[in-house]
Amino acid sequence: MKLPDGPHTPPLVQLINVLLRPLETLEENAKLYGDCFTTRITGFPPLIVVSHPQAIQEILTADSKLFDAGQTNQILHPLVGDYSLLLMDGDRHQSQRRLLTPPFHGERMRTYGQLICDITEKVTDHWTIGKTFVARSILQEISLRVILRAVFGVDEGQRFEELRRLVSKILDTFDSPIKSSFLFLKILQKDLGSWSPWGRFLRQREQVDKLIYAEIQERRQQSHSSSEDILSLMMSARDGSGQTMTDQQLRDELMTLLLAGHETTASALAWALYWIHKQPTVKEKLLQELESIGDHPDPSEIAKLPYLTAVCQETLRIYPIGLFTFTRILKSPLQLMGYNYEPGTCFAPCIYLVHHREDIYPQPKQFQPERFLERQYSPYEYLPFGGGSRRCIGMAFALFEMKLVLANILSHWQLDLVDHRPVHPVRRGVATTPADGVPMIVVGKKSPTSKPLQSVIS
Ligand code: HEM
Repeated sequence: MKLPDGPHTPPLVQLINVLLRPLETLEENAKLYGDCFTTRITGFPPLIVVSHPQAIQEILTADSKLFDAGQTNQILHPLVGDYSLLLMDGDRHQSQRRLLTPPFHGERMRTYGQLICDITEKVTDHWTIGKTFVARSILQEISLRVILRAVFGVDEGQRFEELRRLVSKILDTFDSPIKSSFLFLKILQKDLGSWSPWGRFLRQREQVDKLIYAEIQERRQQSHSSSEDILSLMMSARDGSGQTMTDQQLRDELMTLLLAGHETTASALAWALYWIHKQPTVKEKLLQELESIGDHPDPSEIAKLPYLTAVCQETLRIYPIGLFTFTRILKSPLQLMGYNYEPGTCFAPCIYLVHHREDIYPQPKQFQPERFLERQYSPYEYLPFGGGSRRCIGMAFALFEMKLVLANILSHWQLDLVDHRPVHPVRRGVATTPADGVPMIVVGKKSPTSKPLQSVIS
């Protein structure tokens, strides 16, 4: 089978490039080899990187039985375990998705609106003028509290404080390009004691598991729970043969939601604050729009603001948090863009390259929210949350959260970047985040009379 051409450098060099200079490597390859090219990376089968919207449409809209994706997410296995939605395929995947999707949409999602505003106020409450902070850390605290509330219904008390501390620490194991290689290279996954990176990770994971299992046990004892949180929902669900989920299945799905649901949103928010403060005109327009809705807008009113929406969309276009959708593995022969592919071929729709196509996004390196007000993009031209049968189940929730957190912070505080030099994206685990987390300084507090979002947490 003839595959599209691609870089001829040794697979280890390709892996190092992917880890250390992912964006530059992608752009160089797209320039040299076009819309579809083949990469060969140590430890992985050849991968067809696709950046043409039509080819992406064909892959993402194909019958879900034509492609698998779960097995290529095995690198996340150490974090999320055997029973994670991320690792499932076929009917099991579809039925688990049906269970996990509704809480992150529609009315159920909107019930979190006020909570998101309250958590944001609580976390930023102690800020004073002159205080410096790293945006990503603060935003990670907010998004972790939010997802804990959605998943468990609570985020307070000793167990949840411990869980919060450990979940963010566990991700620090992979917080640099080099440390991300622990996920990619199995050979590095050796427990050499609690001082070694992998050993430390395993011990932290054990502690997280203990806390999650303790919460599950406690819930099982309260037989008549009327809670609407996701854990309660999963505990009452039954599969086709009437079986409920085991403790391990519950743990793996909870871990999946905690990990997939907070670092991604926190990184997106850190990028948004960066761009808003990097471009004074964007900030000005945004503040005008926020002022136009008065002092006490409803969260759903904020979520509808067109310029705020465009700022979030452009943030996720220019540096998408996932550079790729999940890899799709072909299960039957397929003809695509002039090539005949055999079962087993791996395709990686490249979100970053599509989002930087000059023919779709003129001046793609410029942050221009206006482009989203002037034109509608198809789901294969703009896909920060992937697409098809694996599209992110947290898409609506993440966008809702981004808008409310941004509106809340910008309406209460005047901030500035500590350093106005360009910030570069780096890999953190499987996410692409701002290299230094975006250091910021508080330069002013808005007067309480113009406070637009009222807190209900005392
Ligand atoms: C800005 C924030 C986020 C971004 C950029 C993002 C991006 C993505 C992407 C690109 C995928 C792969 C889709 C594909 O291959 O087609 C994905 C899948 C997923 N995301 Fe998100 N995500 C975000 C927030 C969230 C949140 C808040 C949750 C929590 C509910 C979440 C849960 C998931 C899950 C469970 C999957 C796997 C879906 C499946 O396998 O069927 N994500 N996300």
